[in-house]
This record gives sequence, structure tokens and C-alpha cells, in this order.
Amino acid sequence: MSAEFAIDVRGMTKTFSGRTVVNGIDMQVRTGTVCGFLGPNGSGKTTFIRMLCGLLRPDGGSGTCLGHDVIAGSEAIRREVGYMTQRFSFYEDMSIAENLDFVARMYSVPDRKRAVDESLEKLGLAGRRRQLAGELSGGWKQRLALAACLIHKPKLLLLDEPTAGVDPKARRDFWDQIHGLASQGLTVLVSTHYMDEAEKCHTLAYLAYGNLLAYGSPKEIAQGSSLEEVFIRLMEGSPDNYES
Ligand SMILES: Nc1ncnc2c1ncn2[C@@H]1O[C@H](COP(=O)(O)OP(=O)(O)OP(=O)(O)O)[C@@H](O)[C@H]1O
Ligand SMILES: [Mg+2]
Repeated sequence: MSAEFAIDVRGMTKTFSGRTVVNGIDMQVRTGTVCGFLGPNGSGKTTFIRMLCGLLRPDGGSGTCLGHDVIAGSEAIRREVGYMTQRFSFYEDMSIAENLDFVARMYSVPDRKRAVDESLEKLGLAGRRRQLAGELSGGWKQRLALAACLIHKPKLLLLDEPTAGVDPKARRDFWDQIHGLASQGLTVLVSTHYMDEAEKCHTLAYLAYGNLLAYGSPKEIAQGSSLEEVFIRLMEGSPDNYES
């Protein structure tokens, strides 16, 4: 039986050189749901995601991710999480299948050959298995990145702007995949700047200058107006320069 919340953290905080970039964030994400993570550039989304999956040690905060303590259990968390980084990269001179095999080896996936074949099949990559990763278009690279972060059968997907620079058809296919995975019980936290994608999420978390300004279903947050209007208003009420 899975726990009610895949992510259940409080007070998550990160400071870089005296500057707090994630400021006491509380977040609960129900198992099997898709949570959209929004906010202007530099608001702390990537930093938060990296703390959740044990790649970055928080300066404050507590809670659990997939039932493991978010600080002491970082290794267990890493094994059960699929993380697609904002600037994913592959071995460009290796084929799609070779790249997936490499990732499977990293995670010590049992019966690697089968795992790679299944993953190629599931993501519609089988016909291109021998194509070099470096020759793929953006949409296919993104699909390969998703396949790579699913190969060890994670319970939680952390996707950091997975559809940036991808055409509308590929984005829609990607979101169909995401919802298909959620309906099988996977939990997804996905950062995006696209409002049409935000509307497809079960819940949304809106971050600005490290603070959580809004949290709820798209309907609760929009309250009759459009999500875009709400987020632009929130942005206008925030300090101008997040990056400095
Ligand atoms: N390793 C680091 N050292 C110092 N500052 C950092 C580091 N990582 C991130 N920052 C700073 O923390 C702030 C938050 O960055 P972060 O990448 O988490 O934002 P983001 O919401 O993911 O932005 P974007 O939408 O552009 O991806 C930024 O001001 C960034 O410059
Ligand atoms: Mg980011």
C-alpha cells in the first residue's frame, strides 16, 4: 500500500552565500497526482527539486519523500526518484538504446536488456533504437530523457521544465504520457512556464523569490479568472529582480 503523500515536507530552506533562495516551503503532494511547479526565473524551483531528491542538502526543513526522511534518507530517495534535469544531456555519440542501457547500469536495474527493450517500446523509441542521441531533434531527445528517468521504475518523477523548447504536438504527447503514468500510481512534480500545462495538473504550487505564494488546484487558484492573469498579478506584486 502506498502512503497518502509522496511528498510531505515543511520549512524547506536553502541559502546560498547568505541569500535565502528557498524560504521555508511546505508542500504535500498526494500519491498518484501531478503537481505543477510554477514561478518566475530564479524563484527557487530547481533548488527545491534538488533538495527533494537528495542532491542538495537543505539548510532547514523536515519531512518525508516517498516515506523516507528528506535529509537522512537521501540515498533511498535517489533510488526511487526519476529526475529529469532542466538541461538534460546524453552521450551524443551513443545510440538511444546504448544511452538507456548506460542509465540502467547506473541504477543496477535487474534484467537490463528487457528493461531497455520495454522502455523503448513504451516511449515509442523502438524504431530509432540505433540512432545516435546527438542526431535527435528536441522532441525525441526529450522522449529519451523521459525514458531514461523511468528505467529504474521510480515512484516519483521530478521533471524540471521537461517541455522547454519542444513543439506543441510533442508537448501534448508528453502530457498524455505523464497522465498515463500518474493513473498507474506514479507521482509527478513538474516545473513549467506554460499555462496550458499548468491547467493539466491536479495541483499547482507557485513560487516567487523563494516563497510559496499559491497552492491548490488550478480551479482554486484561478477563482474564476484565468491562471495566467493570477500568475501575472502575483509576479507584478513581487520584487523585480529574482536573479540578483
Ligand atoms: N549552486 C548555487 N550557488 C549559488 N546560487 C545558486 C545556486 N543554485 C541556484 N542559485 C540561485 O538561487 C536562485 C534560485 O535558482 P533556481 O535555479 O532554483 O530557480 P528556478 O526557479 O529554477 O529558475 P528557472 O525558472 O530560471 O529555472 C537563483 O537566484 C540562482 O542564481
Ligand atoms: Mg530552474
